[in-house]
Amino acid sequence: MNILILGSGGREHAFAWKLSQSPLCDTLFVAPGNAGTAQVATNLPLAFTDFGGIAQAIREHTIDLLLVGPEEPLVKGVVDYLRQQPDLTRLRIVGPDAQGAQLEGSKDFSKAFMQRHGIPTAASQTFTLDTLNEGLTYLETHALPIVLKADGLAAGKGVIIAETVAEAQSTLRDMLSAGRFGEAGHKVVVEQFLRGIELSVFVLSDGVNYKILPEAKDYKRIGEGDTGPNTGGMGAVSPVVFATDSFMRKVEDKVVKPTLAGLQQEGIQYVGFIFIGLMNMNGSPFVIEYNARMGDPETEVVLPRIQTDLVELLVAAADGELDKVPMQVSPQTAVTTMLVSGGYPDAYEKGKAITGLDQLDEVMPFHAGTVSQNDLVITNGGRVLAITAIANSLENAVRKSQEAARAVQFDGKQYRKDIGLDLIRYSD
Ligand code: AMP
Ligand code: GLY
Repeated sequence: MNILILGSGGREHAFAWKLSQSPLCDTLFVAPGNAGTAQVATNLPLAFTDFGGIAQAIREHTIDLLLVGPEEPLVKGVVDYLRQQPDLTRLRIVGPDAQGAQLEGSKDFSKAFMQRHGIPTAASQTFTLDTLNEGLTYLETHALPIVLKADGLAAGKGVIIAETVAEAQSTLRDMLSAGRFGEAGHKVVVEQFLRGIELSVFVLSDGVNYKILPEAKDYKRIGEGDTGPNTGGMGAVSPVVFATDSFMRKVEDKVVKPTLAGLQQEGIQYVGFIFIGLMNMNGSPFVIEYNARMGDPETEVVLPRIQTDLVELLVAAADGELDKVPMQVSPQTAVTTMLVSGGYPDAYEKGKAITGLDQLDEVMPFHAGTVSQNDLVITNGGRVLAITAIANSLENAVRKSQEAARAVQFDGKQYRKDIGLDLIRYSD
């Protein structure tokens, strides 16, 4: 079968790498892709928000299965658009429609959804410009620190953790009346700060049945020891030592099952991935957020551990038959280290030649922001490469990933040297 993946990051390269290994996959396309996806698939020069162009490519290349990588096309309704095309009714799509993608596209929707279905999460209140004064008063008696979240998509930057009431009040004013985060900040969710350790849990849903994929820990801050500004993610590890069987049972019973039951009750036929950001608070899971897609760079450690044919799993999800496909997971540990451009997550330079990639062995260098130019691979984004290693121990996977991170060179390269070290200490 012919498969199209939408997106251009490390997540999409990892998907392309995995799907291309399946005997069920005939021709694989990625739109728009990067220099890495070009090694295992055919890149199509299409923006992932160009719905008309995507439909045309699906017809032209007789695509049977579409996998949507990033949130933006999902929230903007790419699935709804394609479902309305009378000649594409047989297309299998993995990704929720716009209503399902509201789990990520609106923090206000997702908080209300969790409240309706009794899913554990931080207590919260939502404010708009009309209720700004009420919000400012509400903040005066709120426990510190205070978490403020722009309602809409804000490229991972819409969460502010205010240490004082004054900071929280000025943030609320900035978002609601001064247009910080634009449209995304026209509603603000104010919530209680949760203390604990974070992890990411991934679910593949066919609308009724589900599979819980390997969990992962993401390293969000730019600096070692979790310091400095937030990024899209600087590295990831799977499995996570503190995700014990008993903790994961609680996640399944208190979070996964009620989430899927809630979606069904609300008439949302959710086919696709749900990425649940969780806080483990003294052994109990609390939902920080939902995403309507896989994580990046978490996908780069989750997929290498899945031994089952991913095409089979995705087809079963699209056909409502996930219960018929067993999933095997490797007990090995996968670690990925992200190489990023100088200056990232602020302004950064592009167009730097990358060297050393051909010297690597025993690792999977997933491309994020790269492009090919005259036989060279050059940098083309803030996050450039996610270098994944898989090994029998966390220590060995960390070592291999870090060695490769050192060996690959480009002007201004930065990476964290402490990916996974907290988990090694945790298990000691
Ligand atoms: P998000 O954009 O929702 O992923 O939030 C970014 C990060 O902010 C999360 O990964 C957490 O580290 C942190 N965060 C969000 N909400 C809370 C909360 N209620 N308590 C503590 N930390 C939070
Ligand atoms: N790594 C976090 C995310 O994909 O949102």
